[in-house]
Amino acid sequence: MIVVCEHCSSRLKVDEQRLDPTIRKFSARCPKCRQKFIITLPEEIPDVVELQQPDNPQPQRPGRTIVITNQKGGVAKTSTCLNLGLSLALLEKRVLLIDFDIQANLTISMGYQNTNSFYDLHNRSPREFNAALIQTSYPGLWLLPSNKNMVLLSKKYFGKHEYEYILDRQLAQVKKQFDYIIIDTPPSIEFFTINALTTSNLAIIPTPCDYLSTHGVDQVIKIIDLIRRKTNPKLEARILVTMYEESTTAARMIFTKLKTLHPGRLYQTVIPRDERMQEAQIMSMPVINYDQKSSSGRQYLALAREICTPARERG
Ligand SMILES: Nc1ncnc2c1ncn2[C@@H]1O[C@H](COP(=O)(O)OP(=O)(O)O)[C@@H](O)[C@H]1O
Ligand SMILES: [Mg+2]
Repeated sequence: MIVVCEHCSSRLKVDEQRLDPTIRKFSARCPKCRQKFIITLPEEIPDVVELQQPDNPQPQRPGRTIVITNQKGGVAKTSTCLNLGLSLALLEKRVLLIDFDIQANLTISMGYQNTNSFYDLHNRSPREFNAALIQTSYPGLWLLPSNKNMVLLSKKYFGKHEYEYILDRQLAQVKKQFDYIIIDTPPSIEFFTINALTTSNLAIIPTPCDYLSTHGVDQVIKIIDLIRRKTNPKLEARILVTMYEESTTAARMIFTKLKTLHPGRLYQTVIPRDERMQEAQIMSMPVINYDQKSSSGRQYLALAREICTPARERG
């Protein structure tokens, strides 16, 4: 089990085998800052975790499924998936993050390894699939990790009849359990990205304001138009400016160009370039947890609000 030190925010591993199962609350000392703090264990976990009880106020309709996509690498796809996911969870939404990239950067960023991936679970019953999702140490946030077996998924199904719908079919039951499902994708358009685009309502295209970014965004929008015609007519596309440096004239020029080329498609929220993001990544933490006052953390929270609140309510 992972716990977070309330003094220095270090993520620490607790060996549950060594704990007395009858004691749910105990004092611990952080090995990093040496401060004492109280750990409260969750109630005993049953063998099969039902994510939705019939009489609890969980969402009854399929949640919103968001794919984070761009053919370019290093544009903050994984960072957006993690930080938007946690921000939505902080707004009391139930959120599932799906790492759909063989590189497993999202999984690693969250401190997990040697866990089941979509490949390992894709033939399981909905009940077993739900039970295998990881409930992270962040309240309201679940993870379906990636691992190296994911390459077998593409090898087995790519190009086969209706391969585009493999993720969509498996998520049909899962969608009812969450307000939001957010899918991280690789920097290429192939099996994984096509499956993620096919099952989503919304594609968020993160892009920095650098020289080739407008070209990269155009390419993604063309792919999304194709997906809309072939497998998913309901897919909507929005652009998120990331790593923005307002002090740079070139960045401001490209930002203006993006707004002109894609009217109404850019989020009002812009994610600034912020060193805290890299520091948080080193600590395997979402930036808002690493530093609540960080500019990028605050903007991811603003993005979550923008996504949750219809434009007419925001005024
Ligand atoms: N707002 C930001 N400010 C500074 N660095 C950032 C920001 N967003 C992301 N990064 C850094 O950029 C790198 C690439 O981000 P990542 O999310 O892995 O991109 P992708 O998934 O598109 O390849 C990472 O080192 C990440 O910490
Ligand atoms: Mg990535």
